[in-house]
Amino acid sequence: MPERFRDRVTVITGAASGIGAETARRFAREGASVVIADLNAEAAEAVSREIRDASGRAEAAVVDVGDERAFAALLEELAGRHGRLDVLVNCAFAMVAGPLESLSTEDWRRCFEVTLHGTFFGLRAALRIMSSRGGGAIVNISSLAAQGGQASLGGYGAAKAGVENLTRSAAVEAAAAGIRVNAVAPGAVATAGTLAVYPEGTPQRRALEKLMPAGRLTQPHEIANAVLFLASDEASGINGQILNVDCGQSAVLGAPELEEGWGQ
Ligand SMILES: NC(=O)c1ccc[n+]([C@@H]2O[C@H](COP(=O)([O-])OP(=O)(O)OC[C@H]3O[C@@H](n4cnc5c(N)ncnc54)[C@H](O)[C@@H]3O)[C@@H](O)[C@H]2O)c1
Repeated sequence: MPERFRDRVTVITGAASGIGAETARRFAREGASVVIADLNAEAAEAVSREIRDASGRAEAAVVDVGDERAFAALLEELAGRHGRLDVLVNCAFAMVAGPLESLSTEDWRRCFEVTLHGTFFGLRAALRIMSSRGGGAIVNISSLAAQGGQASLGGYGAAKAGVENLTRSAAVEAAAAGIRVNAVAPGAVATAGTLAVYPEGTPQRRALEKLMPAGRLTQPHEIANAVLFLASDEASGINGQILNVDCGQSAVLGAPELEEGWGQ
């Protein structure tokens, strides 16, 4: 089995569920020592146990990424105990949906506190550790919501747009220290959260799939593969980039109905 991440300490936030959990499994299969960092202790332990049962190396850590001291303390403790911190994947997020004119200040702040501030807190702490240890890789999880307007996702989209710019600024600052910072921006992914909003067979689901040139949602493992690549040595020349992983969703200009007018 190829083990591109053998012994590399990889911390993944929000890894107790969805894309983060799939990413943790993917890194573990490549030999990484994975830390499932999540608010949800029980689910984090379950993912960690599942990886260990499959002969991988994993541990669960409870953290609120919006708590800057706790997040930095966790990364410092891990780097001290393992003697290294190779990869940080910032995947935890908060989304409070609703039209902007009725979105409360509290809900707006919640989107930013976890999604953008949490990413910054982890990134800052990781930069300090990685720069003193010869380098590393950080992959932030963004969203196509950062790149275009979407009704009811204004708070979440604005926070993710911040994540994308933070990614570029951090890459510029940290490159000389041997640290690469990139982001993966998923389109609609077949996670439990997305499937609950767009259940199979509903008009909403059909409308969503029509937006996708492949006619299907992106799968969590397809996001995990991209994160793994960006964190790997094979991506040594890639820094400060946002990689859309969306089965072509963001490449589309216009609506399928309009394209039918061109004789398709
Ligand atoms: N699922 C999609 O369709 C989709 C699309 C675009 C982008 N994304 C992005 O992908 C990432 C993962 O999405 P998902 O759908 O897999 O999520 P999910 O809801 O399945 O998992 C999110 C995890 O984050 C944890 N979490 C929440 N707040 C936290 C905090 N303050 N501190 C630590 N952990 C916290 C939760 O406990 C949960 O385990 C997010 O950044 C999301 O914005 C997802």
